[in-house]
Amino acid sequence: MVETITLTRPDDWHLHLRDGDVLRDIVPHTAARFARAIVMPNLKPPVTTTEQARAYRERILKAVPSGMSFNPLMTLYLTESTPAEEILRARDSGIVKAVKYYPAGATTNSDSGVTDMRRVYPVLEVMAREGMPLLVHGEVTDPSVDVFDREAVFIERVLLPLLSDIPTLKVVFEHITTRHAVDLVMQTPDRLGATITPQHLLMNRNAIFRGGLNPHHYCLPVLKREQHRLALVKAATSGDARFFLGTDSAPHARTAKETACGCAGMYSANAAIEFYAQVFDEVGAMDRLEAFASCNGPDFYGLPRNTDTITLERKPWRVPSVLGYGREELVPMAAGETLSWRLV
Ligand code: DOR
Ligand code: ZN
Repeated sequence: MVETITLTRPDDWHLHLRDGDVLRDIVPHTAARFARAIVMPNLKPPVTTTEQARAYRERILKAVPSGMSFNPLMTLYLTESTPAEEILRARDSGIVKAVKYYPAGATTNSDSGVTDMRRVYPVLEVMAREGMPLLVHGEVTDPSVDVFDREAVFIERVLLPLLSDIPTLKVVFEHITTRHAVDLVMQTPDRLGATITPQHLLMNRNAIFRGGLNPHHYCLPVLKREQHRLALVKAATSGDARFFLGTDSAPHARTAKETACGCAGMYSANAAIEFYAQVFDEVGAMDRLEAFASCNGPDFYGLPRNTDTITLERKPWRVPSVLGYGREELVPMAAGETLSWRLV
């Protein structure tokens, strides 16, 4: 008998979809699994206004295959010149659900990001008043800080001051990678949530170097030590409502990864819920997958949970070694490897 599990349809609370031709190649992967996704605004140029978000959303919707339903939840890219009125327009639009903070220079297309959090405090005060969550890429960019310590230092230098300076702002600490981040979330009242990616649950930093330098295992924040991975697995599978699913699936063409200065990002959207099922199954916590994947996120954002379901079955399948990506190729996470759970 095949073992199956049926869940409330999950959502992806952190996703990169890019733009243009590639939308047709990648949107269907997410739409097949998730009802909604928080769509990152780090396009070139970034999505900084509600009007841009609305137009981008329309382009995404055109790439949803007929017969599938998918609701992209949009975000604005916070810059030092984002006016407070833009937050009000975003709130009124009904389609923008959050604002994303990138430290300037921290990652892909983050040049327009913020150089000092205090410079955007006036806008954050408005967000706090309007109940608009701030999504943070939690790493310092100070080149003197070791790349593996950038998240822990961010907590001390930026996040703790922010949480105490604007006590009513809702914050999502995105793609957490360390036990320090887990501890902070556990110690903070309910207004601080965190997303956790499949790569940070399944791999530690050895994966970057196993058998030679592997650019497909490079993402930001970079993979960390095993002790941190274990802390993330414990948090994700604990049932604690402050931790929820966010893949940070971030496609880059194979040529942009397999090169002298490869881009950061792993593509997991084609097997996202399957990766999480693998993690939860390995620690005997399949009964908590639904809370993490389908309940905690909408509850944090104050949105209704989905009413339809998906079913996974325990049936080994091979992740494709390569996917289409416009005129290029895309190498997904765990390319060519076997996963134990399959989407029915
Ligand atoms: O690995 C990453 N890729 N981390 C990010 O923060 C951005 C993302 C991307 O857009 O490629
Ligand atoms: Zn991201």
